[in-house]
Amino acid sequence: MASSRSLSSRIGAMLAGALLLLLSTASAVAQLDVGFYSKTCPHVEEIVRQEMLGILKEAPTLAGPFLRLHFHDCFVRGCDASVLIDSTDVANSPAEKDAPPNKSLRGFGAVQRVKDRLQSACPNTVSCADVLALMARDAVVLAGGPTWPVALGRRDGRVSIASETNQLPPPTSNFTRLSKMFAAKGLDAKDIVVLSGGHTLGTARCVSFTDRLYNFSGANNPADVDPALDGAYVARLRSQCRSLADNTTLAEMDPGSFLTFDAGYYRLVAKRRGILHSDSALLEHPTTRAYVGRQATGLFAAEFFRDFAESMVKMGNIGVLTGEQGEIRNKCYAVNK
Ligand code: HEM
Repeated sequence: MASSRSLSSRIGAMLAGALLLLLSTASAVAQLDVGFYSKTCPHVEEIVRQEMLGILKEAPTLAGPFLRLHFHDCFVRGCDASVLIDSTDVANSPAEKDAPPNKSLRGFGAVQRVKDRLQSACPNTVSCADVLALMARDAVVLAGGPTWPVALGRRDGRVSIASETNQLPPPTSNFTRLSKMFAAKGLDAKDIVVLSGGHTLGTARCVSFTDRLYNFSGANNPADVDPALDGAYVARLRSQCRSLADNTTLAEMDPGSFLTFDAGYYRLVAKRRGILHSDSALLEHPTTRAYVGRQATGLFAAEFFRDFAESMVKMGNIGVLTGEQGEIRNKCYAVNK
């Protein structure tokens, strides 16, 4: 009796094991895969790259915005292209795109241009979320940065809610805040310092950092500057950004090489010249401070490139929809009817 019970419990355990294996295989099937479109849209990567060459030739300053679009996509509802959806009723139910942190995003038209090319080549096949991931990678490559394999198969979400952009770290973040917000997305201190290196590309509107120049603690007088910012740099930034409220002037985040992806960002941060408070915050923690110091020597750029590629792969996996989830949008700016 005892042995037949143990036999049946052994069989039960084996069945449970087999079920677990089956389930884990099923979820593995739903993972992203570099060759995801090899049968359905075999030239997807070439098409995106070709379009990107044309787009960046016409508008080189879009390299930064493409990288930022992918980041802002992935941090809200995962990399599901929810950032691209237009509000249907902007007054009552604004989409992510109309939330303050996303007002300065650019490049939406170019994303649709790439999507249109893919619609002609392989209709209703490639998701807008994958388009964003590929465009971000190609933007970095074409700006002189590293490449990485982009695993594909993300599906597009059908929901976009402005208030959910509170998951994006604000530029005023200190290190504790950055750590919490990145940890919520499965990213660690190393990812923070490495991905912040994306600020080697692009520009920031003055309003994203003028509090540091004119009104850091609310005293609103000429002496009220962020002590984490180099004094000479404060003067220079003030000459570019004339008032606290200036939300039109753009400042290069890595002056002189804002169109080139390099490790120069870390030299700036090490000299207390990181433009955003969140850039300076990398000096607050021993791990990230050490990384900044090492990269500031200029001797380890290849290591930064490898690290950046690795962290981008991690970021590109955040909360992805796969398999039967979501949809493949026809137009990146609207959910399917
Ligand atoms: C660590 C937390 C981060 C904060 C607080 C932050 C904040 C910002 C802000 C405020 C701007 C300027 C927006 C404007 O005023 O126009 C900006 C620009 C940019 N960010 Fe970040 N960011 C962070 C991380 C990242 C990450 C992870 C990436 C990508 C890997 C990234 C890529 C960029 C790029 C490329 C730009 C320039 C965009 C352009 O030229 O229009 N950022 N970021």
